[in-house]
Amino acid sequence: MAVHVKMRFKKYIKWVLAVLIVLFGLLQLVQPERTNPPIQSDFLTVTKAPAQVVTMFNAACYDCHSNATRWPWYSYVAPMSWQIAQDVSHGRKHVNLSEWPATPDLARKKIEDMSDEIDDGDMPLGKYTMIHKDARLTADQRSELTQWLDGQAAALKAQAGAK
Ligand code: HEC
Repeated sequence: MAVHVKMRFKKYIKWVLAVLIVLFGLLQLVQPERTNPPIQSDFLTVTKAPAQVVTMFNAACYDCHSNATRWPWYSYVAPMSWQIAQDVSHGRKHVNLSEWPATPDLARKKIEDMSDEIDDGDMPLGKYTMIHKDARLTADQRSELTQWLDGQAAALKAQAGAK
């Protein structure tokens, strides 16, 4: 009797696994768009950012806020692929560092937003830094970034005032 139940259970587990594998395979048929549109105007180039700032921005922000996204292998595996593509799409909509605005007021607004997000520790997103160790910013790095950003914002403000 016990042996019989055990056999049935094994068979049941095999079926469940088979169904899960098929479902996982079907999920892969729904692939999101992983785009890298042309770079129009790069924030770090326009602002002539110093090397440390370039390094930090590239490591911590560019995957979600530029057209130079590095798409890792797991961005090809559903359901992670859907989440990652959505984060990149939403990130680019808010701030796209590859389509940096030429309008000083708009640029300043975005720079101030970035400074706030970094200062509050809201960016980069925690789920990103969980995987990307080099994107984790120390308190010193955060203040270095916000100080530089605030300087850029002040310069743009002065520029607008001078006109
Ligand atoms: C893993 C992807 C990811 C990374 C990395 C990332 N962001 Fe974001 N960011 C987003 C998403 C998604 C949004 C849209 C708002 C939301 O859904 O929370 C966003 C929104 C923003 C906003 C707009 C906030 C608002 O509410 O208006 C700013 C500014 C910003 N990010 C700056 C940065 C900076 C600066 C870095 C690097 C230090 C960074 N982000 C790193 C995904 C990311």
